[in-house]
Amino acid sequence: MQFPYGAGVLGVGMAVPARVLTNAELEQVVNTSDEWIRTRTGIRERRIAGEGETPAVLGAEAAGRALADAGVRPGDVDLVLCATTSGDFVWPATACLIQDALGARRAAAFDVAAACSGFTYALATAAAFVQSGAMRTVVVVGADTLSRQLDWSDRSTCILFGDGAGAAVVGRCAAGEGVLASSLGSDGGGAELIYIPAGGSRTPLTPELLAQRRNKIAMCGPEVFRFAVRIIGAACAEALDRAGLAAEDVSLLVPHQANTRIIRAAAERMGLSEGRVFSNVERYGNTSAASIPIALAEIVQQRRVRRGDVVATVGFGAGLTWGANVLRWCRDEPVEPGGEVAAPEGRI
Ligand code: UT7
Repeated sequence: MQFPYGAGVLGVGMAVPARVLTNAELEQVVNTSDEWIRTRTGIRERRIAGEGETPAVLGAEAAGRALADAGVRPGDVDLVLCATTSGDFVWPATACLIQDALGARRAAAFDVAAACSGFTYALATAAAFVQSGAMRTVVVVGADTLSRQLDWSDRSTCILFGDGAGAAVVGRCAAGEGVLASSLGSDGGGAELIYIPAGGSRTPLTPELLAQRRNKIAMCGPEVFRFAVRIIGAACAEALDRAGLAAEDVSLLVPHQANTRIIRAAAERMGLSEGRVFSNVERYGNTSAASIPIALAEIVQQRRVRRGDVVATVGFGAGLTWGANVLRWCRDEPVEPGGEVAAPEGRI
């Protein structure tokens, strides 16, 4: 589809809690082992939010950094989007709290609730606003503190997740650069494969349900695993096809960081070598909607991307939902002296 304007990532930022929770510490919490967690998930440690470190607080910090990185003033922001499913309040939206903290006085704000796919949904939404000419500058945040939604006696879930936030400033760029295409999807038939059973309108909380921890994440891990491996390739293929590209054109795949085995299996299916797939799940675990924008901040920090590169982001998660975005990187990134890109960290 032809749009009047291009919409690209002009700045990135991230914020994670200082508290590191290692696998060794988790051995004291549930019947697990560092070896099991590393071999089944690739995770070595994750960050856990302390008191006062909420999605709005972490999200505003990440967004502030992204604005500084883009050289955009808060007063010039038209819209703040926050992808989250662990927001500060049941309502209003966490995006409103971030908008206030940033001092983005002119901006509209709303949340995008697509769980771990949230950032891919929000990025596609931001791009559509900017490409149509309806808006000029959108701050897209992914922020989650799922540690507060975990049943710390359930070893199949509590070892997986971590807390954090990442953000991207989406604004006008040259046509043919920035977000080239997206593919979003959902299958509500899988709603109960990963969800929080109680606390919503269908099953309001009671003392009994609280005691049974039904207000915490329940997941059917192996089914979500199979879905993830299949959908990463399918969503990317559709978005790439819409952009007139193929998997071999992808310079860097930035997948949702849930499990190294998922990422490896999906990359293999897509025919992508390790060097063309980014992973930092080892250090942060699954930070839900924050994982992709944190990864984007790190690929910039680690000089893993240059202007003109084709970057594909892909997310999957509760809903079930999935989303992929294909971008032609539109920023001039500084190159190391000698023209070599710095050695990558956090590869799979
Ligand atoms: O954003 C999307 C979020 N969700 C996901 O990404 C989840 C996707 N799924 C997964 O990543 C994997 O399914 C898990 C990592 C959750 C589990 O790995 P798995 O290889 O699918 O293991 P499993 O669930 O089939 O369990 C194998 C065994 C079981 O024991 P038995 O029944 O074979 O005796 C589990 O009880 O591993 C046991 N187990 C553990 N053992 C030690 C499950 N969790 C643990 C644990 N430590 N933490």
